[in-house]
Amino acid sequence: MRERLEALRTEALQELAGVSGLPELNELRVKYLGKKGALTEILRGMGGLSAEERPVIGQVGNEVRAAIEEVIGRKQEEFQQAETEARLREETIDVTLPGRTSAAGALHPLSKVIQEIEDIFIGMGYTVEEGPEVEQDYYNFEALNLPKNHPARDMQDSFYITEDILMRTHTSPVQVRTMERKKGEVPVKIICPGKVYRRDDDDATHSHVFTQIEGLVIDRNIRMSDLKGTLLQFVREMFGPNTQIRMRPSFFPFTEPSAEVDVSCFGCGGHGCRICKQTGWLEILGSGMVHPRVLEMAGYDPSEYSGFAFGMGVERIAMLKYGVDDIRHFYTNDLRFLRQFARV
Ligand code: DAH
Repeated sequence: MRERLEALRTEALQELAGVSGLPELNELRVKYLGKKGALTEILRGMGGLSAEERPVIGQVGNEVRAAIEEVIGRKQEEFQQAETEARLREETIDVTLPGRTSAAGALHPLSKVIQEIEDIFIGMGYTVEEGPEVEQDYYNFEALNLPKNHPARDMQDSFYITEDILMRTHTSPVQVRTMERKKGEVPVKIICPGKVYRRDDDDATHSHVFTQIEGLVIDRNIRMSDLKGTLLQFVREMFGPNTQIRMRPSFFPFTEPSAEVDVSCFGCGGHGCRICKQTGWLEILGSGMVHPRVLEMAGYDPSEYSGFAFGMGVERIAMLKYGVDDIRHFYTNDLRFLRQFARV
């Protein structure tokens, strides 16, 4: 029995020497030391030994078990350590590598200017309205005191879809739509940003699509001085606290009287420079007191109510503000152009 035990030890240690991994190691543990393993199998024969032999063989059995266990334990530790090292190696992070940047978009310069103008008027209690870009002749012209064959219709060469439907040539129709919706209620105090369309040949200062912001205020006792004060406040927030305005008499069929509004040039403070073509002034919007006919057609009694309105071109304001010399830059979407506005 002693020989069988010694032979088992030799065999087990030999086999353990060539073991390649934890699963195999476990198999060998079961094979040699398990309940039905080779060692148990041999020791089962102890019953047939004499009382003197039994402890001696028992001792040898324990030694063999201990020897095998010792090797298994050592191997197990080795394998576990190797596994941990491999895992660490695999999961190593090089913290000095530059991070992956995600390409964040930015607002288009026109959107920025629209938002800025909206914020200023919202601060003065206005709400923001929208209207359709495909508009009825009635709202675009008729209800704004431009009856059929009115010569001023030629001022705004239009894209017609049918005889009665066209791409709106200005945002002024939203004035009429808002008044109709309000059904004679006051105050009306809105601005409306949006795209407008005209049959223009595109060049550095003209585009057949461009953006306007319309304003309309209706209440009792609204006067020209309210218009002037409102616009002065607006331009000072938009272009700086020292900005001045100048109102020049003008004509629009939907306002009476009408005025073209200039701001003192923010490039030179009014002394004359390249931006203002040496005049000291920059034209930025049209305005006036809402024509009584327009009020009446929209359901407001002109003997009780009055109002002012204004309309400005957003591209022109953006071009002045950012020194852009060609309106087409806003539409061609050259990223080199657009990226310059990402942080302003
Ligand atoms: N609708 C005019 C245009 O397209 C701009 C304008 C002028 C709007 C005077 C107004 C206004 O509301 O009162 O050129």
